[in-house]
Amino acid sequence: MPGIIVVGSQWGDEGKGKATDQMGDRVDFCVRYSGGNNAGHTLVVDGEKYAMHLLPSGILSPNSTPVIGNGVVIDLGVLFHEIDVLTSRGVDCSNLKVSSNAHIITSYHRTMDKVTERFAGKRRIGTTGRGIGPTYSDKINRMGIRVQDLFDEEHLRQKVEAALDQKNQILVKIYNRRHIEPDEIVEELLSYGERLRPMVADTVRLLNDGLDEGKIVLFEGAQAHHLDVDHGTYPYVTSSNPTAGGACTGTGVGPTRINRVIGIAKAYTTRVGEGPFPTELLDEAGEKLRADGGEFGVTTGRPRRCGWFDALVVGASATANAFTDVFLTKLDILSGWDRIPVCVAYDVDGVRHDHLPMSQQDFTNATPIYEELDGWHEDISGCREFADLPVKAQDYVKRLEELIGTRISGIGVGPSREQTVMVHDLID
Ligand code: IMP
Repeated sequence: MPGIIVVGSQWGDEGKGKATDQMGDRVDFCVRYSGGNNAGHTLVVDGEKYAMHLLPSGILSPNSTPVIGNGVVIDLGVLFHEIDVLTSRGVDCSNLKVSSNAHIITSYHRTMDKVTERFAGKRRIGTTGRGIGPTYSDKINRMGIRVQDLFDEEHLRQKVEAALDQKNQILVKIYNRRHIEPDEIVEELLSYGERLRPMVADTVRLLNDGLDEGKIVLFEGAQAHHLDVDHGTYPYVTSSNPTAGGACTGTGVGPTRINRVIGIAKAYTTRVGEGPFPTELLDEAGEKLRADGGEFGVTTGRPRRCGWFDALVVGASATANAFTDVFLTKLDILSGWDRIPVCVAYDVDGVRHDHLPMSQQDFTNATPIYEELDGWHEDISGCREFADLPVKAQDYVKRLEELIGTRISGIGVGPSREQTVMVHDLID
């Protein structure tokens, strides 16, 4: 009956798709539970590269049923585009199931996202501009449009009119944008309805019945712990709960059905968008990590901010998500350094912190205290067993394991599915 959650432990882009893909063929259901097409998963299977934003990465595994849970916000244009692209490359997407309770991102959400960011100027969040925040705001304000609303035209029209009564005031009077006619939104949403209908399912029943039958359900996180609206570096966060608890609310599967929580950690740290990042490197070292790691966003193409591994950041995720395992990605990118600093504590105004400070202000002002570990120069992309890794690389992994207090069960040594060192099975 395993329920397995995969959660990013830093600020996203840790390579969650790769860990998910390791379990691929053995997983019966692969479920997205939060976020939307702000996410970006890159998978390399049999030398073919796939970049996805909204579909669960399990869509590439013929044995697994891909599910979009109620906690996800869906841009239907993006959903169908991704399905069309994958279908043209021979991937069967006909098994996709979508929750009737998931909320829909409309064009007015995308517009609101962009204009509020522009208006905020230097106080902007650096969002992906995909309409994520405004859609979740409408959900919490009880004025969102859900998948099920698309199948009752009159009801849909009333909901869109109610939402636009408010949005148009803001768009026209504050942001000097054009008035949006409810009809254009209703027409667009209705145009997707018939194609969407066969995919809509009672995903709560589907997943719980699956678990009753002993099926393996993988809850695939998007974004990460430190982008969580409750646990992240607020307000520089996304508007949902990517943390493990979000997998339960975002799918309707209770916490007692979860056996494993796998935290994904990059062997160094990256972040896109604004917000504090104590180990950020603004020098050539940061540029080298960015170039070697190909650290440019899958969703927006933005260069990612790069820095050393921060054990306090990942340690905080390990605690709040109760990680049973960590999957360490991109260790190969660290080959070629004589010494590799790892942040083990912060100095905040002369006071040492061994854990994340409670105050965001202290976190913003934190200076990392580093421990320097020996680097290695060998190319490790061909290693498949832990013992194949150079001793210094093994030591690096072991030290991280100690610092974050969780066993490291898998290590990524290259982009493709096979370029992985498995230490402990992720499903048992
Ligand atoms: P939003 O999710 O588009 O509202 O953006 C809010 C913040 O989360 C911004 O800093 C984004 O760069 C960041 N963000 C959202 N999704 C991802 C992701 O998948 N990876 C990394 N950062 C993300």
